[in-house]
Amino acid sequence: MYFVAIDVFHGFPHVFAFSAVLTRLSSLVLSIASSSCSNNLNSFSRSASILYHEFRSSKNFITSSVVLELRILSCRAWFDMDGERLLVKDFIRSSVVLENAGVCIRNVVASQSYTEHFIGTPVSARWNSTEATQLKDVKGFKGHDMLTPFTAGSQATDTHPLVIEKSEGCYVYDTNGKKYLDSLAGLWCTALGGSEPRLVDAATRQLKTLPFYHSFWNRTTRPSLELATELLQTFTARKMGKVFFTSSGSEANDTQVKLVWYYNNALGRPEKKKFIARNKSYHGSTLITASLCGLPALHKNFDLPVPFVLHTDCPHYWRYHLPGETEEDFATRLANNLEEMILKEGPETIAAFIAEPVMGAGGVILPPATYFEKVQAVLKKYDILFIADEVICAFGRLGTMYGCEKYNIKPDLVSVAKALSSGYMPIGAVLVSLEISDVIHSQSSKLGSFSHGFTYSGHPVSSAVALETLKIYKERNIIEQIQSLSPKFQDGIKSFSDSPIIGEIRGTGLVIGTEFVDNKSPNDLFPSVWGVGTIFGQECVKRGMLVRVAGDISMMCPPFIITPEEIDQLVSTYGEALKATEERVASLKSQQK
Ligand SMILES: Cc1ncc(COP(=O)(O)O)c(C=O)c1O
Repeated sequence: MYFVAIDVFHGFPHVFAFSAVLTRLSSLVLSIASSSCSNNLNSFSRSASILYHEFRSSKNFITSSVVLELRILSCRAWFDMDGERLLVKDFIRSSVVLENAGVCIRNVVASQSYTEHFIGTPVSARWNSTEATQLKDVKGFKGHDMLTPFTAGSQATDTHPLVIEKSEGCYVYDTNGKKYLDSLAGLWCTALGGSEPRLVDAATRQLKTLPFYHSFWNRTTRPSLELATELLQTFTARKMGKVFFTSSGSEANDTQVKLVWYYNNALGRPEKKKFIARNKSYHGSTLITASLCGLPALHKNFDLPVPFVLHTDCPHYWRYHLPGETEEDFATRLANNLEEMILKEGPETIAAFIAEPVMGAGGVILPPATYFEKVQAVLKKYDILFIADEVICAFGRLGTMYGCEKYNIKPDLVSVAKALSSGYMPIGAVLVSLEISDVIHSQSSKLGSFSHGFTYSGHPVSSAVALETLKIYKERNIIEQIQSLSPKFQDGIKSFSDSPIIGEIRGTGLVIGTEFVDNKSPNDLFPSVWGVGTIFGQECVKRGMLVRVAGDISMMCPPFIITPEEIDQLVSTYGEALKATEERVASLKSQQK
């Protein structure tokens, strides 16, 4: 007989499994189970409380709340414990927890002893809660009313969300006043930090003058007109013709697909409609942009991708190169694979290729040497458009104004968002080449107007804030500033490359990713139940720093305004969190033996 206890401390789930051979613990569990069955809450509380203290004293667990699942007896109870207090709650509705509990039972069966395991799945990797939030308010915001993005239902019901209330420069504060260095700049966007007064003033001025007017039917507003002109001037990789505004990066990429289709219909080639994206790419989460993404989680359970989207190789040299293959050889192989795919599908059916200059959410993946050069040559040969998704890379993130400049990409279409307004107002944009915009203009009388747009396309307040943001980037020489700061940031983090749990640290400018693997090998992944990335993320949170974690990859992209002292703090927090993670991994490994 086996039992599982799930311990949620700091909102971070541990799973403990133990076998009935440990009779003292198991008899307590039995007692809890039977009292729960008979609805005897007093006995339930007493036994659970004793068990809680047993756990603490026997293994020194730092435990602020405990959830027990007594599945063998089919008796399910969930209770929070904080010291002596016990609150009986509804049973945890988490299939992830159940699934992982199953894994733990199997491990305990295998080892025939008490074992501790982490729930380590991509879902738990995004599990957020803070000790501070829990300590101040037992109820917290757990079970809140929002259906939150990229969140498992059980996360919202079982743990306290991290509720951010205030921002100041590179820092954010939660509802209990705990301060965090925001090393992800919100969600890769607050380039000017969280308290730039000029952006607040720009928004306020516009709100007072004209809070809203649309841009349909050749009516529009002055800030959106000015922003379009300004944006075209910032893009120097090649001359672009027009700008279409959206409210987000997803809407921008969604617009790209419709623009390309409209363009090909206008040119009388209605069969040229397929898109090629890359494995591990991220392009948004609308129906079509989620299809463009090369991440299974965006497809699974949504009946995606749509059939007109194909995926080619992820250009991650460290993970995918063959023995002895140089970066250049790797790039050649990928370009050849792309060409093969195009020929197999029929070049007359392929409309466009979409790529992030540096892949962001897929794990900060830099293109190998000569990659974009070779890919562009293939696309040109078959008259296939290049869409550059610059939603993360644009405005300085890579140390150049656009990723296209850095990698010598001459795109037909470009998507931007995020740092365009430093995240202060929702806005995205599509930059359209002269050739495409000319076709759309000249043909729209024949085909009917370009019937696409959003109520908030070119929203005047968002446009005013974006204009001010671009002005600040220029005035403060933000590109030069990033170029001078990035060696300290990159070298500081890369100095941990020798860590036994790190396979690769990769980055450029002010973006960096760390991939955790065993034996420094891309093929030796840590067991997912260990949740190594999650451990690292939580160790950072404990030390007052927010990073992004996806599986066993952690990512950072601090605001452009980060100071050298803040970089020192970021690097030293990273180092401490890494050390704690190494210790944790060593202990998990020793238990495995
Ligand atoms: C490269 C890239 N494209 C598109 C998007 C989607 O942008 P949004 O979340 O604003 O819709 C993102 C978001 O992270 C992104 O990183």
